[in-house]
Amino acid sequence: MHLWDLLKSRKKQLVGVDIGTSAVKVASLRQTGSHYTVEALGRAPLPPDTIVDGSIIAKLPLAESIERVFREQRIRNSRVATSISGHSVIVKKVSLPAMTEEELAQSIQWEAEQYIPFDLAEVNVDYQVMERAPRDQKLQIILVAAKKEKIADYTSVISLAGKIPVVVDIDAFALQNAYEVNYSPPEDLVTALLDIGASSTILSIVRGTEFLFTRDIAIGGHQYSEFLQEEFDISYEDTEKYKRGENVPEDRRSRVQEVIDAVSQNLVLEVEKTLDYFKTTTYAEDVGQMYLTGGASRTPGLQEALAGQLQFPVDWFDPFQRIELAPSLVPSGDRQSVAAEFAVAVGLALRTQ
Ligand SMILES: Nc1ncnc2c1ncn2[C@@H]1O[C@H](COP(=O)(O)OP(=O)(O)OP(=O)(O)O)[C@@H](O)[C@H]1O
Ligand SMILES: [Mg+2]
Repeated sequence: MHLWDLLKSRKKQLVGVDIGTSAVKVASLRQTGSHYTVEALGRAPLPPDTIVDGSIIAKLPLAESIERVFREQRIRNSRVATSISGHSVIVKKVSLPAMTEEELAQSIQWEAEQYIPFDLAEVNVDYQVMERAPRDQKLQIILVAAKKEKIADYTSVISLAGKIPVVVDIDAFALQNAYEVNYSPPEDLVTALLDIGASSTILSIVRGTEFLFTRDIAIGGHQYSEFLQEEFDISYEDTEKYKRGENVPEDRRSRVQEVIDAVSQNLVLEVEKTLDYFKTTTYAEDVGQMYLTGGASRTPGLQEALAGQLQFPVDWFDPFQRIELAPSLVPSGDRQSVAAEFAVAVGLALRTQ
């Protein structure tokens, strides 16, 4: 599923550009039949004040970073799919009285008003009718609303980089897309996808290929950094190393892990609360498994903490399980961290338009 198609044209592969808080990640794929091959993967780290509270503050430097990644990776295709997330985006599965597509198109703005806490003049509203047949004459739709300002922020940066913003997606949908292509999930398997980024964590739940739920949790890699910086008064660079278990002096080892574990415990607690909320308010369904992605999912001990606390298997998501990635194209960093960082970009690069 994709959202605002800004240009109408032939279906062609798009370049996935994931503008994260800590880095821009770019993925370009080639499709041959049902087989995908990575053509290019590139990343540019962003200074901490580039994106603050989900708003792009430093547009020009960000655009230059995007442009540079395209140049370094020799990506010629300039048609881009990017995505947004955070508190100016709302994604909700809602149930409406049975009506025709036409009636729905006419009443969607009015229906949306009940679910969206923003001024409707400030948002773009889109929806998709669920494929599953309604059981009780009700119509199930996924309602998506995003602040126009946010969409404009992201598309203008892509334009500033000399590229064409073709699709603006939602992080959660891009991830779901990457999951479907790499795992071909059985119809009734309820899976939680947890994207632990720098500024926040996205928890999405799907049944087979059907979207059920998504929510943001305001804990991510930054929180680990903050706590470590407070405890040891170290530089940003050192924090990044400490988080990976690198360069830690022997006498600090156990304290570093304690600080990391404390943040992980908070995150686990928030994940449990969100899962409880999902279960009690949305569906009485049991989650069968969880996949972790996002750079901070590699935090030492985090996977074990989640697996120890949750009632189902917790594994790392591999966006390259069925998408061929030549070793020479893997950017710097260990392969697992690269896999974790590029899941959204890969999901976006799977789009055609
Ligand atoms: N091996 C690792 N161990 C611990 N933390 C890591 C590791 N690799 C990356 N990180 C952390 O992951 C975060 C970056 O992950 P990611 O690229 O998924 O975030 P982002 O997309 O930029 O952020 P967001 O999605 O929140 O906007 C940073 O906080 C970084 O310090
Ligand atoms: Mg991210």
